[in-house]
Amino acid sequence: MKTLFNNDFNIKNVGEVVTLYGWVAKKRDLGGLIFIDLRDRSGIIQIVISPENKFYNKALEIKNEYVLKVSGTIIERQSKNMDIPTGEVELSVSDLEILNTSLVLPIELNEENLSLEDTRLKYRYLDLRRPKLKEKFFIRHNILKAVRNYLDENKFIELETPILTKSTPEGARDYLVPSRVNKGSFYALPQSPQIFKQLLMVAGFERYYQIAKCFRDEDLRSDRQPEFTQIDMEMSFADEEDIFRICEGMFKKIMKDVKGIDIKVPFDRLTYDEAMSKYGSDKPDTRFDMLLNDITDIFNNTSFELFKNVINDGGIINALVVRDNASNYSRKKIDELTDFVKKYGAKGLAWVKVQDNELSGSIVKNLSDEEINNLKDKLNIQNNDLVLIVADKKKTVYSSLGALRNKLGKELNLIDNDKYNFLWITDFPMFEYSELEGRYLAQHHPFTMPKDVDTLTTPEKCYARAYDSVLNGYELASGSVRIHDKNIQSKVFEALNISEEEAKAKFGFLLEAFKYGAPPHIGIGFGLDRLTMILSDTDNIRDVVTFPKTAQATCLMTEAPSVVDTKQLDELGIKLK
Ligand code: AMO
Repeated sequence: MKTLFNNDFNIKNVGEVVTLYGWVAKKRDLGGLIFIDLRDRSGIIQIVISPENKFYNKALEIKNEYVLKVSGTIIERQSKNMDIPTGEVELSVSDLEILNTSLVLPIELNEENLSLEDTRLKYRYLDLRRPKLKEKFFIRHNILKAVRNYLDENKFIELETPILTKSTPEGARDYLVPSRVNKGSFYALPQSPQIFKQLLMVAGFERYYQIAKCFRDEDLRSDRQPEFTQIDMEMSFADEEDIFRICEGMFKKIMKDVKGIDIKVPFDRLTYDEAMSKYGSDKPDTRFDMLLNDITDIFNNTSFELFKNVINDGGIINALVVRDNASNYSRKKIDELTDFVKKYGAKGLAWVKVQDNELSGSIVKNLSDEEINNLKDKLNIQNNDLVLIVADKKKTVYSSLGALRNKLGKELNLIDNDKYNFLWITDFPMFEYSELEGRYLAQHHPFTMPKDVDTLTTPEKCYARAYDSVLNGYELASGSVRIHDKNIQSKVFEALNISEEEAKAKFGFLLEAFKYGAPPHIGIGFGLDRLTMILSDTDNIRDVVTFPKTAQATCLMTEAPSVVDTKQLDELGIKLK
C-alpha cells in the first residue's frame, strides 16, 4: 500500500529513503539530467535521474501522465522552488517502475491554458487530476468532517431517508422513477428529506441530521444542480434561538477547521422586509454598502407623468447612489445598465449625475426645483455622484436594483473577497402570490408555522416563522418552525386552497402521524455545494461536484440521460409519445 504522500516531504526529511507513487505531471530532459514532476493527490515532488543511473534509459521512455512507483533518497535541491511545499527537496532515484503508460491527454491540465469546459466535463476524471480542482474536494471533505464531528458532539444522530419516495413539498418539478412491479405508478426522487425528517421527530429521535442527496427538476443556474447535497437537520423541543445558536456553532467550527478563520457569532440578522428594502434581495451581499433608498415620498405630488403613474398604481421609486463615479459612467455605459435592469422587468433606468456641481441626467428636466433639492438632501448627493433610479412595482424595483447593486459592487471592486458575512434573514412572508397559478403558494413549504395564526385569512399580511442563512450574497439554507398542531395545519392548507382530499392524497401519512403525539419541532437544510463553492473561491457549482451536470441537466461523460430499449420500456409498461 502507498503510505507516503508527496507533500509530507521538506528540507527536514533530507536523507530519508522512501517509496513514492504518482503520475508524471511534467518531464524535462536537460541533456544530462532527467527531471520529473511526480504528482499525487497531495502535490508535486521533483524526481531526478542522472545519466549514470541504471534506470536512466527507462526514464527516457517516460511520458506525461505515466503512473510511476519510485524509490530513492530525499536530497536537497540545487535550485529551489519556494512556490511549492516540497520545493527545497527532490528524490534521487534508486528504483523506478512504470506501473502504467498513458495516451496524450485529450484535455489540458495547465491552469493557464484550460480546455473548453464541455471537453473537460467529457473527460471529468482527467480534469479532476488538476490540483486546483482537486483542492476543492478536500475543502468539501473537511466541511463534512467538521459538520459530522460537531453535530455528533451536540447529540444529533445521522439517519438516512428514502430516495425512492413520494413527492415532497419544495415546489420544484419532481424527477420521477417508474415502478416495474406497480405498472403505471411512479416514485418521486426527494427534493429534500423534509417530510421524513419531520416523521423522525414524531418517532422520537429528537435531533437528526443527514448529508442528503436532493433532486429537483428546475432551471439550472450557476449555483444550482439538478442533484445536490444538503446538510439537513431537524430538532424537537427547540425554537429559532436554539437552531441559530447550534448552526452558528457549526459554522464557527467549519470556518476554523477548514479556513483557519475565527468568525463572529452570533450572526447579524435582518428581517425579510429590511433585507428587501435595503438591499433589494433576500440574500443580500452585505460585504459592501450602496443601499437602496426609497425616494417615493419626494414625488407624492409630482407632475412628472412617469413617476406619478407608478405611485398611483401603488408602485415605489428607489435609488442607488454610486458615489464618486459619475465621470466613469458615460451615456453608453448607462444604456448598458438600463438593458441590465430591463432583464429584471424594469421598464427603464432614470439617472441623475452631478459633475462640476452641475446636475444632468435623463429626468432632470422633468423635476421641479423642490424635488431636485429634496433628492439632493435625502441622498446627500455630492459632486461626481451618479444616482440610478427605478420606478415600478415594488417587486420589480427590488429585483432590478438588487441585481444592479450586486453588478456594480463587483464592477467597482467594492467587495472585500476575504470577508465572510454570515447573516440570518428572518420573518419571511408566509405566502407568495403566483401570477402563473393565480393563487397564493407557501413561500417556504406548507408545514411552516405562521407567526400569527389569525393573519392566515389575510395572506399578504401573514408572516412565517421561517428563516434563511445567507453568506456573501448566496442563500445557504432555509428552515422553519414546523406546524405540529393539526388544527393549525388545516388552516394553512385552507389558506393555500389545498382541499382536505388533496392534502390527504399528498401528505396523508404525515397528517396521520401528527395525530400521535408529534413534538414541537424545527429544522433547516444547508446547501453543501453552495457552501463549498464559497469556501473554495469559485462561482461555478460544477467545480465542487465530482461528476456534475451541464445547464441542460446532461452528463457529458456518461451521456445521461439516454434513450432506453423498447424492452425496458415494455417491462415498465411505458410507451413514448
Ligand atoms: P430549500 O428548498 O430552501 O429548503 O433548500 C435548502 C438549501 O438547499 C440548497 N439548494 C440547492 N443547491 C444546489 N442546487 C439546487 N438546485 C438547490 N436547491 C436548493 C440551497 C438552499 O438554501 N426542506 C427545506 C429545508 C428545511 O425547511 O429544513 C428545503 O429543502 O442552499
